[in-house]
Amino acid sequence: MDRDRLLRELIGFLRLPSVSTLPAHDIDCRAAAEWVAAELRRLGCSDVAFLGSETHPVVWGVGPDVPGAPTLLLYGHYDVQPPDPLAAWTTPPFEPTVRDGRLYARGAADDKGQVFCLLKAIEANGRPRLNFRFLIEGEEEFGSKVLFDLLKREPHRTAADVVLVADMSYVAPGWPSVYTTLRGLCYAEITVRTAKSDLHSGEYGGAAPNAHEELARLLGRLKGADGRINVPGLYAAVKPPARSELAAWRKLPFKEKDFLEKRVQGKALTGLKRHSVLERLWALPTFEIHGISGGFTGPGAKTVIPAEATAKVSLRLVPNQRLKTVEKQLAAAVKRFTPKHVTATVRFLHGADPAQIKLNHPAFQLLDRAFREVVGRGTVPARAGGSIPVVPALGAGGAAVILTGIGLPDDRLHAPDEKLDLKQLWDGIEVFRRFYELLGERT
Ligand code: BES
Ligand code: MN
Ligand code: MN
Repeated sequence: MDRDRLLRELIGFLRLPSVSTLPAHDIDCRAAAEWVAAELRRLGCSDVAFLGSETHPVVWGVGPDVPGAPTLLLYGHYDVQPPDPLAAWTTPPFEPTVRDGRLYARGAADDKGQVFCLLKAIEANGRPRLNFRFLIEGEEEFGSKVLFDLLKREPHRTAADVVLVADMSYVAPGWPSVYTTLRGLCYAEITVRTAKSDLHSGEYGGAAPNAHEELARLLGRLKGADGRINVPGLYAAVKPPARSELAAWRKLPFKEKDFLEKRVQGKALTGLKRHSVLERLWALPTFEIHGISGGFTGPGAKTVIPAEATAKVSLRLVPNQRLKTVEKQLAAAVKRFTPKHVTATVRFLHGADPAQIKLNHPAFQLLDRAFREVVGRGTVPARAGGSIPVVPALGAGGAAVILTGIGLPDDRLHAPDEKLDLKQLWDGIEVFRRFYELLGERT
């Protein structure tokens, strides 16, 4: 492998600010799609196509035909999260920089660096005997609507023996994993209105309702200080992990103290104290407030009673919760906790059901072997706290879906100074190369 050339190429991909949630970056998303398409053509794909959207297309490709060989569908996303707060980055998010063996850039680990590994592994010494298919999407960070709609119209795109999703990390350095669940997501905007317009806080203060105060009270009712989410019915469908699974988690290299001190870097962990941290991260629903807007937040001071306030919130869902049910439960809870003199509306922005994966297909053993050979340890089963909305749909045609990744837990996805360790990158290419080879031998 010519590492210098590969690194230059990855840096070229990472330079494209393909932020799918900001319309100003539509053109950059399209450019990232073009980058992927050019790679697929170079790999000899026929039928490279942009599907479902002009600006955030799903890049589809069909590798050279290998009669009788298994079909492997590679999934990834070329879009990235917004880079803000910009000032918190050591070097700019779209000027990829190597420091201490790490490549810093938005998308380095999530997911461009991993898509890069999947693709470059195909031609790293010799061609595997596989029928490759590619679905590399551009809207994963915004709920995957384009790909969902595409697969509804054209479910044959997922016809494959195995789907490989590399959009996760090892559970710890040196500990590669495969994931048995992903959490689902219910993303909503809650808006509270208390009057026709803003009011002078001297003339009206003491007698007029305040939208921010009402919103704060509402949010406080939805989740208590003990970490319990008070959305009626929310926990009813939650399936507790089996004892054997909880026992297996206790053997993972995960220390709650390290998690607090090295990763969260706060003063205490929160949430339901009678559950372990891994249970809280992997097997319980969450309610998070992402931001609150409205009223006066500019520099200086303004004495005003805001008439409207909005909170962006989301719930993570776990097996066996359903998005449709949770949406209804949240809407009903907001209604119930809102006093008569306040108007509250809930708008759902996007969401996903949780995913559950059985590890019984023989391909899981081949991936385990590939990791064992390359990095010295096989894959441990784990769960993921994050979401990849389209995963259940990728397996709907009967293919085994493998969720894995080559990142590390401290890659700072969605945060400033996102990075990918170069060792993970080079190992990753080698692991996937070996996996393709092993899978191709099963004809
Ligand atoms: N790669 C992540 C998902 C992930 C992160 C899985 C960490 C496992 C561990 C993915 O790109 C992501 O961030 N998904 C979003 C989906 C949402 C915007 C619909 C997420 O989880 O917030
Ligand atoms: Mn991702
Ligand atoms: Mn992400």
